[in-house]
Amino acid sequence: MYNFIFKNPTKLIFGKGTIASLTTEIPDGKRVMMTYGGGSIKNNGVYDQVKAALHNYSIIEFSGIEPNPTYETLMQAVALAKEQNIDYFLAVGGGSVIDGTKFIVTAMLYDGDPWEFMIDPSKAKHALPFATVLTLPATGSEMNNGSVISKKTTHEKLAFMNPETYPQFSILDPEVTYSLPKRQLANGVVDAYVHVMEQYLTFSSDSMIQDRFAEGILSTLTEIGEKVVNGQPEYDLRANFMLSATMALNGFISMGVPQDWATHMIGHELTALYGLDHAVTLAIVQPSLLRVMRNEKREKLLQYADRVWHLTQGSEEGRIEAAIQKTEAFYRNLGIKTKLSEHGIDNKSFDSIAERFAIRGWKLGEKQSITPELIREILNGCLA
Ligand code: NZQ
Ligand code: ZN
Repeated sequence: MYNFIFKNPTKLIFGKGTIASLTTEIPDGKRVMMTYGGGSIKNNGVYDQVKAALHNYSIIEFSGIEPNPTYETLMQAVALAKEQNIDYFLAVGGGSVIDGTKFIVTAMLYDGDPWEFMIDPSKAKHALPFATVLTLPATGSEMNNGSVISKKTTHEKLAFMNPETYPQFSILDPEVTYSLPKRQLANGVVDAYVHVMEQYLTFSSDSMIQDRFAEGILSTLTEIGEKVVNGQPEYDLRANFMLSATMALNGFISMGVPQDWATHMIGHELTALYGLDHAVTLAIVQPSLLRVMRNEKREKLLQYADRVWHLTQGSEEGRIEAAIQKTEAFYRNLGIKTKLSEHGIDNKSFDSIAERFAIRGWKLGEKQSITPELIREILNGCLA
């Protein structure tokens, strides 16, 4: 196990009826900006619950933060928040609204064009305080300090982390997920699953607790995923799904272990270029990546095959391929297409994607061994 420091300051408030606790969680006297997306919260009662809990506060609203939130939209929020002397933010929504709010709170204290800290995240050091009411279990953004922002003009999608962008608290009421369409539920299951895989399916660092935590989340998601997506809303299923997604990316399973994240990095390019949903890109890229990198990941792939899919018979190659096929079938059974050709996308952009990584000088994967050539090979494996 590698050395590590763990600190996660986000307070989780979990369960039925917990949005009402906003009344006592936001410090008195704050000028609050409430950020949200395209309006789903107005149709499912979340907006009303938030407003009722905050009736004593002066609140400015900023709506219209889009899925894959953009720099262009968020800069409008920054301008409004500065004009209104806002000193506290409340994000009400999914990963996009929360990530967008992390950008806003960082930009509020940044001297210069905020896109600079997207290019060089070490420049993101300070932020105004914020909290969240999560409406879509998927990203883990409600309990981490990461954020992914797109720029429309250049078709870029980049991530940053700031030591000060952990939410002060996050409210997770599983009942607010009842209004989610199947597409977003499926996206959430896949995103959470792949987050665990990025931190687990690397090489062994003899981190037994983290491995068992990770396998626990993966097994929970394979057990409940289809029921969550295709069944009627049921409280305990949604509660387990919601907690799985938070635990998948709040630092618990990454203590002292190597991490990959190449599926995410390549997937972000597919969203930036083609507008595919984040989780859809992961379901496309990951099976191909696991095949291309199977020798480096051999030991963990065999452990994954055994402990998550109970594949213990046959040759090593056979078990590895079967585990990858089971993973892909799991995504497909949730209604997610796993091939680029199914989205009408061919190989035209592959060279420019590989070129982008080469220009940035990024070396992907847990061993930094995924070169632009391998990225092209992985993308070729995504076609059909
Ligand atoms: O905009 P509204 O009207 O709210 O509708 C949203 C949106 O259209 C809707 N929705 C959310 N909650 C709902 C609901 N509809 C009905 N009922 C509800 N309760 O769902 C749509 C998608 O929302 P979005 O926030 O975009 O989805 P998600 O949570 O999957 O977030 C995706 C974004 O997060 C980034 C992704 O790259 C993408 O930009 N990620 C953030 C991470 C992080 N911060 O740690 C890690 C992830 O790997 C990921 O990259
Ligand atoms: Zn993700």
